[in-house]
Amino acid sequence: MPLSTTGELVAEAASSAGAVAAFNVITLEHIEAVIAAAEAAGEPVVLQLSENAVQFHGGRMHPTAAAAVSAAHRSDVPVALHLDHVKNEALLQDAADCGFSSVMFDAAHLPYQENVAATRKAVRWAHANGLWLEAELGEVGGKDGTGPLDAHAPGARTDPDEARRFVEETGVDALAVAIGSSHAMTSRDARIDNDLLHRLRLALEVPLVLHGSSGLSDQEIQRAVQGGINKVNIGTALSIAMTTAVRATLAADPSAVDPRGYLAAGRRAVTGTVTALLATVTTAASASLPVRSA
Ligand code: G3H
Ligand code: ZN
Repeated sequence: MPLSTTGELVAEAASSAGAVAAFNVITLEHIEAVIAAAEAAGEPVVLQLSENAVQFHGGRMHPTAAAAVSAAHRSDVPVALHLDHVKNEALLQDAADCGFSSVMFDAAHLPYQENVAATRKAVRWAHANGLWLEAELGEVGGKDGTGPLDAHAPGARTDPDEARRFVEETGVDALAVAIGSSHAMTSRDARIDNDLLHRLRLALEVPLVLHGSSGLSDQEIQRAVQGGINKVNIGTALSIAMTTAVRATLAADPSAVDPRGYLAAGRRAVTGTVTALLATVTTAASASLPVRSA
C-alpha cells in the first residue's frame, strides 16, 4: 500500500469524531510490531520517529526512516510517517526527503513570542515542502517575569485564548495541548482535565493532539478522544513492553547469546501492547464510559 499521510489519517479520524493512534518507534522491531498490530486490527496507524530516537541512531535519520517507509509500503493498512519533537532545524529540513508527511515542531519551551516566530517560520517551510505541521503550546509564562512552563511539565496547562491566538498567528495544522498528561510515565494514573479540553475544543478548529498518553488508563484515553482529541501519541508503553519481555527472556536463560530470541520476545510484547492501545483509541468514539468520581 502506498505511504499514507498523517494529515489524511487525522482528518479521516476527525471526520468521525475519533482519533488516529501514533506510536513512537526506535528500532526495526518496533516498526514491525506496530505494523503487525495495525494489520491484525485493520486500522491505520502513524509511525513516529522522534529527534531523540534519531540521536540514538547517531544523528542519522535516513536508515530508520527508510526502514519505516519500506515497511509501510508493504503494509496491508494505511501507514503514515511522522517526525516527532523536532527542535533541530537541519533535521526538519531532511524530513520530506526521508518520507515523512508530517512533523511536530517543538518550540514550546520558548517564551510565547519566540515560540510563535519559530513555529511560524517552520510552518512556512513545511507547507512549501508539502508537510503537515503540528506544534505545541504549554503554559505561557512571562507575565510575572517567570519563564514559560514547558508543555511537558506535569502541571502545564494550555490556555484556550492563547491557543486560539497561537494557531491564528502561526498557521499550524494541528495543536498539541497540555491537559493533564505528561511524558514518560510508567504508571497509568494521570488524569485528563476534561473541562479544559472542552474549552480548547470549542476555541480551536485545528485537530488536537495528546502527548504522553502512556500515563493514561484506557478510560482516560477514551475520555480524551471523546472530548475532541484527534491524534493520540504513545511511546513509553512500548518501551515498557519491550524491556520487560527482554529482561524476562534473558533472566530465564542466562546463557542465551542469540539476539533473535530476546528481540522476538520484545517485538511480540510490543505487538500485544499496540494491539490493546489501538483498540482503546479506535473504539473511543463509540465507547460509553462510566461517570468518573472527582
Ligand atoms: O510524542 C510522543 C508522545 O508524547 C509519547 O509520550 O512516551 O509518555 O507515551 P509517552
Ligand atoms: Zn510527545
